[in-house]
Amino acid sequence: MTGPQSNKIFAAFLIAGITAYLSAFVADKLIHAEPLSEPAVPIEGGEVAAGVVSGPKGPEPIMHLIAAADIAKGEKLSKACAACHSFDNGGPDKVGPNLWGVLGGPKAHVAGFAYSDGLKNKAGSWGYAEMNEFLYKPKAYIEGTKMNYIGMKKPEDRAALIAWLRSMGSTSMALPSEGDIAAEKAKLAPEPEVTEEEAATESAVDGAAEEAAPAE
Ligand code: HEC
Repeated sequence: MTGPQSNKIFAAFLIAGITAYLSAFVADKLIHAEPLSEPAVPIEGGEVAAGVVSGPKGPEPIMHLIAAADIAKGEKLSKACAACHSFDNGGPDKVGPNLWGVLGGPKAHVAGFAYSDGLKNKAGSWGYAEMNEFLYKPKAYIEGTKMNYIGMKKPEDRAALIAWLRSMGSTSMALPSEGDIAAEKAKLAPEPEVTEEEAATESAVDGAAEEAAPAE
């Protein structure tokens, strides 16, 4: 075949080829699968299952991290709370109460908010230690709490968030003293020593647990 006929066929193939290439390119740009850093829907039990591997775990000490914690990072982490809480002075209650000045304040600090009995009856104020335990796993710290949030597992994250909370209406609260830091370390079990081999299996299991997320 020669002449205009073969040119047309060649052009048809060329256009088909370019179209296929472009649509693959566009599709890739449109649906760019980036792994989520946190599960879009927190699944209770997933993280717990991973914790079981390294033995019983509770919140790690964080007081020694607070003075030097990254407040800007804490503010970013607070996005995980913003659906239910406002943090600014005079901000509205949402699903959860406004949290301006909550650190250092009494438990159930907003008058008129419909707190759970568990929280209303929990004695004491929101010191660093209490906040650390609560944010680690709200439902373990306050039985029957209405706060539907799985918890923040990394000590550095809790420290950053708490340091930021302090900047939201609680700057008059003293930073943890050497004594506070030592007392907290004595109370909370230190991190178990993890060998390199254990760490490797643990992270492999962590990955599996994230996908399987077995119920508690
Ligand atoms: C799904 C909604 C939701 C999310 C997400 C959430 N909370 Fe809450 N929070 C609540 C509710 C509801 C309460 C009241 C709990 C109760 O009455 O038991 C509460 C209570 C609290 C309290 C106690 C307030 C007081 O007056 O005693 C603190 C502190 C708190 N939340 C901090 C946080 C932080 C920090 C985050 C983010 C890491 C967060 N919450 C995420 C709903 C939420």
